Amino acid sequence: MPGDEPVYLVVGADSLIGGALFRTLRDGGERVVGTTRRRRRVDERCLYLDLADAPDRWRPPLAVSVAIVCAGVTRLQACQSDPVVSARINVEGVSALAKNLVAAGVFVIYLSTNQVFDGSKPFRLANDPLSPETEYGRQKAEAERRIGPYGNSIAIVRFTKVLEPKPPLFLSWIEAFRKGSEIHPFSDMVMAPVPLALAVDGLRRVAQARSPGVFQMSANKDITYEQAARNLARRLSVGQDLVQPIRTAASGPFPESLPLNTTLDASRLQTEFGMAPPDVWFAIESVLQP
Ligand SMILES: NC(=O)c1ccc[n+]([C@@H]2O[C@H](COP(=O)([O-])OP(=O)(O)OC[C@H]3O[C@@H](n4cnc5c(N)ncnc54)[C@H](OP(=O)(O)O)[C@@H]3O)[C@@H](O)[C@H]2O)c1
Repeated sequence: MPGDEPVYLVVGADSLIGGALFRTLRDGGERVVGTTRRRRRVDERCLYLDLADAPDRWRPPLAVSVAIVCAGVTRLQACQSDPVVSARINVEGVSALAKNLVAAGVFVIYLSTNQVFDGSKPFRLANDPLSPETEYGRQKAEAERRIGPYGNSIAIVRFTKVLEPKPPLFLSWIEAFRKGSEIHPFSDMVMAPVPLALAVDGLRRVAQARSPGVFQMSANKDITYEQAARNLARRLSVGQDLVQPIRTAASGPFPESLPLNTTLDASRLQTEFGMAPPDVWFAIESVLQP
């Protein structure tokens, strides 16, 4: 492999998105190294890095040219229940690492979320003022604010929900349908899911182009979890009576605020890379593929 080809660093190679990105780059013949905080996973292609443990002193391998930062505390409830420890990782750790990497001449891609907005409007523009309503969203917004000034050395890629190929929730619904059991999806929670493979493709393109600024990736509309369940029931030819929706409040005290909208304006990915926002039903129905 020629020495002048980019070397990618996937920070958080054990994460859903980082793991898939690492495998895609590796299988595509790219030069890629990852990081892990699991000691037993460390090897020559996966370096140890704990964002809670002085990431400002962590030095990337010399050849790295692009880093994609996927590690962090990603569960809303974990951020809400321990804002201090989670912010140490999501804000202090991430921004110290980004500063460190940029100083070493690395182009940094930071993964962010629609949760940096309050959900009051659909299709938020990339440059809309940030308005987070959850602790997770506040931490992601603060990390964006801290790394934003690195200008041409960074890209921020915001995602709505990234849907893994076999999401456990959907699999549990399908299993219940096959047994003739009822399911209870939320009627007041929405999503605009992006299939994992597409999310990885978007990141790969931004990384290859080293294109700075803010990118957003979102499905073409929001649907409720109830609508997703009804669609799967239809596809599996089971009765709609098995779908018994509930409101989130009925499942107990729900953490923080529930966005009415999660969609993001994804036109920049379409303009620069020809990537159209995925159809929301495509993401849902892809779960049924073998
Ligand atoms: N998934 C989505 O729907 C979605 C949507 C929008 C934005 N994002 C953003 O995309 C990124 C990746 O999300 P994901 O869902 O793929 O993440 P994930 O599967 O939840 O994985 C998070 C990873 O971060 C690692 N981590 C946690 N604390 C760490 C620390 N102190 N030092 C080093 N690593 C640490 C975890 O390590 P262990 O595996 O060892 O616990 C885990 O592998 C995140 O920034 C997230 O905010 C995700």
